[in-house]
Amino acid sequence: MSEGTADRQLRERARAVIPGGMYGHQAAPGAAYPQFMRGGRGARVWDVDGNEYVDLMCSYGPVVLGHLHPAVEAAARAQAEIGDCMNAPGPVMVDLAELMVRTVRHADWAILAKNGTDATTMCCTIARAQTGRSKILVAKGAYHGAAPWCTPRPAGVTPADHANLGHYAFNDLASVQRAAAEAGDDLAGILVSPFKHDAGFDQELVDPLFARGLRELCDATAAALILDDVRAGFRLHLGSSWEPVGVDPDLSAWSKAIANGRALAAVLGNDAFRGGAKNVFVTGSFWFAAVPMAAAIATIKALKEENAIEAMHRMGSQLRDGILDQARSWDLAVNYTGPPVMPYLTFAGDQDHELAGVFAAQALRGGAYLHPRHNWFVSAAMTGDDLALALEATDQAFAAVRKHLGQ
Ligand SMILES: Cc1ncc(COP(=O)(O)O)c(C=O)c1O
Repeated sequence: MSEGTADRQLRERARAVIPGGMYGHQAAPGAAYPQFMRGGRGARVWDVDGNEYVDLMCSYGPVVLGHLHPAVEAAARAQAEIGDCMNAPGPVMVDLAELMVRTVRHADWAILAKNGTDATTMCCTIARAQTGRSKILVAKGAYHGAAPWCTPRPAGVTPADHANLGHYAFNDLASVQRAAAEAGDDLAGILVSPFKHDAGFDQELVDPLFARGLRELCDATAAALILDDVRAGFRLHLGSSWEPVGVDPDLSAWSKAIANGRALAAVLGNDAFRGGAKNVFVTGSFWFAAVPMAAAIATIKALKEENAIEAMHRMGSQLRDGILDQARSWDLAVNYTGPPVMPYLTFAGDQDHELAGVFAAQALRGGAYLHPRHNWFVSAAMTGDDLALALEATDQAFAAVRKHLGQ
């Protein structure tokens, strides 16, 4: 933990050479948390001082099969021995694009990149290139990445960066219709997350009527329906997260889980938007690296062969049931929201996340790495032992909250 020697020393060195000591959401989420990690295997991670934790954050999503999944690592090693960053992509690029198009129902083509922000930004650009229009509607409070058009922090952002955005409220179709009417004949697309997973707030599953309403609105206006599946993709469903809802987007943004922790992102799209995708100039020095693509192929195969989505759902449901039993036994009012594989816990009336902070810090001391202000992630590597250890830690965490409230 943070009071450990190696972590303290690294923090001191980082303060001198890394702005703020750390940036983005990788800054440790509380004083009790280690800032630096040494390694991970399966559903466990170790910090630089050797403390072991059951991993309920999975690197904020990418680790879906567990750390160092044998088949994924073998595929990455085999590709690394042949080549990674070459003058042009390897054959794995076509293999992976074919596999993603076969796996995701709405997809007729794929463009591969590195980060989720690449993918969401590219979706907006393609929507504009295809329609010849400018405005993209986004849900208030939704996170779509860290570029100036979508970063949640105002520093360094100009009004022009936001000039072509309109806003609606998630699950509120009337608010989308109002925003669309305001955009008028300049509506290029509607960007939406598969469910409401704004950090620090109770989560909200999508109302199928809302999803269908967006589809109808985009059909009526020839605007792009863009699904931001960066955080949830391949954790809820082996296809787009809205396939079970019965709604297909025109474009979708992917990253995080698609290569089990290796740097890769994808934009998938249908034939109606292929022309726009062909016309935009998109590239990156490392976008064509072959190792993450080989890892992604192995990840998708393992997700299928190991019934990983079902396994995560089962473990996530047991975690939810155990935590809700514990909350009841400690007589604490909580909200446990979102899908079981990406849950989030809040305490009633805990606006400033004080109780969540007490809970998370004690869970960490007990050996469960979860987060006070961001949804958690369950991986398919979680065993019964991992679950038991996590639940022991959360029971101690509820005890700490009860004690804190008593004081
Ligand atoms: C829904 C969503 N979209 C986009 C992004 C941006 O992805 P990245 O951090 O890889 O750029 C994230 C990252 O957390 C995300 O959760």
